[in-house]
Formats: sequence, structure tokens, C-alpha cells
Amino acid sequence: MCGIVGYVGGKSAQEVVVEGLRRLEYRGYDSAGVALVHDGAIVGDKRAGKLANLDKALAEAPLPESHTGIGHTRWATHGGPTDVNAHPHRGSRGRVAVVHNGIIENFAVLRAELEAAGHELASETDTEVAAHLLEREVSAGADLAAAMRTVSARLEGAFTLVAVDAAAPDRVVASRRNSPLVVGVGDGEHFVASDVAAFIEHTRDALELGQDEVVTITCDEVSVTDYAGTPVEPRAFHVDWDLSAAEKGGFDWFMRKEIFEQPHAVGDALLGRHDDAGRLQLDEVRMSEDEIRSVDKIIITACGTAFYAGLVAKYAIEHWTRIPCEVELAHEFRYRDPILTRDTLVVAISQSGETADTLMAIRHARAQRAKVLAICNTNGSTIPRESDAVIYTHAGPEIGVASTKGFTTQLVACYLLGLYLAQVRATKFGDEIAAVVDELSAMPARMQRLLDDAETVYAVARELKDVRSVLFLGRHAGFPVALEGALKLKELAYIHAEGFAAGELKHGPIALIEEGMPVFCIVPPRGRDFLHDKMVSGIQEIRARGARTIVVAEEGDRSVDGYADVLLRIPASSTLLQPLTAVVPLQLFACELATAKGHDVDQPRNLAKSVTVE
Ligand code: F6R
Repeated sequence: MCGIVGYVGGKSAQEVVVEGLRRLEYRGYDSAGVALVHDGAIVGDKRAGKLANLDKALAEAPLPESHTGIGHTRWATHGGPTDVNAHPHRGSRGRVAVVHNGIIENFAVLRAELEAAGHELASETDTEVAAHLLEREVSAGADLAAAMRTVSARLEGAFTLVAVDAAAPDRVVASRRNSPLVVGVGDGEHFVASDVAAFIEHTRDALELGQDEVVTITCDEVSVTDYAGTPVEPRAFHVDWDLSAAEKGGFDWFMRKEIFEQPHAVGDALLGRHDDAGRLQLDEVRMSEDEIRSVDKIIITACGTAFYAGLVAKYAIEHWTRIPCEVELAHEFRYRDPILTRDTLVVAISQSGETADTLMAIRHARAQRAKVLAICNTNGSTIPRESDAVIYTHAGPEIGVASTKGFTTQLVACYLLGLYLAQVRATKFGDEIAAVVDELSAMPARMQRLLDDAETVYAVARELKDVRSVLFLGRHAGFPVALEGALKLKELAYIHAEGFAAGELKHGPIALIEEGMPVFCIVPPRGRDFLHDKMVSGIQEIRARGARTIVVAEEGDRSVDGYADVLLRIPASSTLLQPLTAVVPLQLFACELATAKGHDVDQPRNLAKSVTVE
């Protein structure tokens, strides 16, 4: 939530910062602003609404030349999305400007202290107190980094702060606690940003910052300390994707591009993780064979779409390993006092690696001495850094707010984990594991076939663009797919959508069915006769009550023909792997229906890509 950028170097700071914000806009789009250091003063502009409003203002009244600047794109927490509440915020004399991501929990006390000392604060934000406090420190003679350390140590909550001082035009200083921040290392220029997308067009070399650290960037130097001022050596990493991955590449939306990238992303997620004989190589799990054998419970924790990937994982992991597996929403997990021991493996799934709820859940798990394994897409992010081990999903940057390739690559990572545990614990024979690995390797081609026929799904979406409600039904591994299909539609099309386990229908939800209501039905493969036949009966029951059935069934399954108003075919797959293909038409449907309604698919209302506040 919120995108922040800072730059020092030979280029126009305004251009670098605004371009950086454009790539971070998916993190929040309630307002945007920049502040530059020019001729011993801070200059800048900030506007409510999307970045386009700031662009327009800057085109009408360009800022003077500068090589040091900061910028912000906001997802509002304290104070509504107005020009005044937009970042950057300044101190009372306008000497220091600050941008912030997170929530300063003790801001009311600090604000009262400042007001008692005669400060007038212009906005309703928590951020402005940091600007005033920093300015007070530098006015008393501290340099900006020392001021940042002193002020950060007084703040409670989650924050990344990035600041400039008019009296120190050669530097940008930033601080982080519980909120993302990475450093970009260029040639004669440096960057700080919420994520690498902001500077990927300039450099792919980056540094990770740890918890409670302050970084100072100048043209030539990066220096990092902890809040006590002790120097720290940051971990360097190289970003393995380039600018083209952060652009739309001819698609109308990032989301659509990311849906179409899935065959490739799923292939990448499998790369190097098994040998030719189908034996898993998953050293990333960093657990000895003895440790793996002593695991007596797995708890998967995540939010939103990542949680649904966890629900699928439960079916697969329990089936393959016979280890009891719970799946829990991260924001519920730690408040229920879960039973965790040294033999519990906690698996945290997060595309961004920054979701505050998931982060707090793993901290709780580690404090109880459970082992934490992250499944994550973002190198340099906090959740993998704070976990005992990580399986990266290698999906490349996911910029559309609605997760798509994030989800399918999370599924792959979960399958690989389950198979690896089964291999070490010998709960499956080698040839059984190899058969699943073979099928996983066939999934990219199956997904591609679905994408080649996207137009069939688009036509259904356009036809249904004015419906008020859509239901999604699934069973077994198809149930989380139904939940995911409904979530995609809610968040993009803003219409009522609900996913149900098909067996639950008769226990209440069937009362929702009315004449013409569209209901997606995810039919399990025929290999599971009892599941399949139950689903087909369910379809008949809702159709008899007027539902318009959109049936997602495998190729060659003729048993559904008579009960489908619309039939969407997916390639035949085994039950546990079917989610990888079954979700694709649902993603295409939501994307196209929202487009037909004229919505901004990449930036749905009220949302932000990475939820860095609890
Ligand atoms: C929905 C969506 C969200 C995220 C959730 C967790 O399309 O993207 O539900 O899945 O906020 O985010 P991560 O995976 O970054 O922890």
C-alpha cells in the first residue's frame, strides 16, 4: 500500500521519480505527489486522484531542474484522499519533505506534543508529524540521517519514510520498519523505492534493507545503519526480470497480460526443481530429512487469493503426505492462540511478501518456535527475509492488482512442496511422484490451449455484463477455484459474486437461485467418479430452479452437455492439478466483464496491490 520513490543522480529527478511512481501506481492511487530539492529549497506538487492529475499539473506548471527528489502514490489511511493530505508532507518551515508508507500508531500523541510546542499541522495525516519532527532535529543541527534515526526510534507502527532536506541537496534518507523498502544501485545514481519496479529501467542491481534500518543515498554512495547508528552491510541481489516485464507489451491491462503469461510463469516455477527422472530437488526448503520426518502438522497461512492457493494445497499435501494440514487466514491465525510446536511447519503464502497480516502471523509462529517456510514471488521482500526458508515462485512482477499468475505459480510451489515432503517421508512411490511431476510439466501447454480460445470466454463475459449477481460452485480442489472466481469478479466488476462448495448448496445457498442467475459450475475430472457425479446432480438441481449454468468441464466429458447453458471446455487433468487450468476461464471472464463495464481493471476501486497495513 502506497508507492514511494527517492532519487539522487545526474538525471532529472522529476522525470525519474514520476516514472517510478507510474510503475508503483498499482500500490495505491488515491493521490500522488513529488518534492525536489532546488537551490536550497524544497519545490513540489501533489494532487488528489490518480497520477494523471499530477502529470497534468506538472505539465502546466513544470518544476525547476533538480537531481534529488522523492515521490509518493497513496492508498489513504489517515485522512481522506485530498490535495492537502497527499504526500509529500513538509515541516513548518518547509525545509524537510517526507513521504511515508504505513501507519504511525502513536501519531496522536506526537501531534499533541508538536501542537503544544507551537507547530501548526496542515493535514489530517499521521505522516505530517514525521516531517515536523525531522525538521525540528535538522534545525537543531543533526544531519538528516541522524535525525531520521532519532525520529524513527520514537515512532510506533509500520512505516517506510523517505525524506529530503533543502539544506542537504545531495542526499535522500530513508528508514524502514515493517514496511517495504529496497535500494537501487546505479552508475553515479541511486534509488530507494517500495519495490524494484520503480527503478528497473535504470538498474537491476538492488540492496535489501533490514528491519529498523536507515539508508542514506547520494550519487556515489549508499550507507546503511541501524537506529543506534551502527553500520550495517545490506544484502545485494540482482533482479532477474527487466523493463519489458514491467510494461503492458501491447495488452490493454497488466492483468490480461499476466493471465496470458501464466504458461510461461508456471514453466519457470518448475524450472530446476526436479531432475529428468521426476525426483524433486527442493533444497530451498532448508530442512534436514530428519526435520522433515518429524513434522507432525502443517499450517498454511495467507490472505485473499494466496489463501485460496493454500486451500488447494491442503487437498494435495494431505493426500500425498498424510500430514494433517490446516489452512488459516493470516489475520485470524494469531488471534486464536494456535497450537504450534517445534514440529509444526508453518507455510506462509504471499505474492508480494509484504502483506502485513501474513507477516505478523509468521512472527507469531516463529516466536512459538515453529519452522516457517515462505512461498513468495518477490525477492528482497520482508516475509521471505523473516522466514526460515523460502520457495520463490518466479512469476515475474505482478502489477495488476488482481492476482493471476501469482495464484497459479503459488499452486505450483505448493504442489512441489507436497511432493517433496512425500518423497522424503516415502509416503508416495518414486514413480507416483514422477507421474505428477510429468503432469505438472504438461500444464503450461494445457493453459496455453485455454488462452488460445480466450474469445469464447470473452463473448460470455460481454453478454453478461449487466448481471447483478454471479455464483460459483466447485467441489474438492474445485471449491477454492470457485472462491477465487468469485473474488476476481467482486474486485474487478464490483458485482455480487459468491463461491460455494457445491455440496453446501442444499444447506441454504440454493435459496439464492432465481430465474436466469448465472452460475459457474467447476466439474471435477471424471477420474473421481463420486465427486464428478455429485457435481452433475448439483448442476441439474440449480438448473431446475432457473439458474443459467456456465459449466467448466474437461474435454470429452459428455455427461454435462444436457445441463449446460454455456459449456467451457478445459483440458483433462487429474483432480488435484485441475485448479491450474480451471481458474483460467474465470480469470478471463472477470477481466473481460470488468472491461466491458468500463472499469479500470488494473486499479480497482478501494484496493491496492500489497496490503502493508493490518
Ligand atoms: C486478489 C488479491 C489479494 C491478494 C492478497 C494477498 O486478487 O490479489 O486477495 O491475494 O491481498 O496478497 P499477497 O499474496 O501479496 O500476500
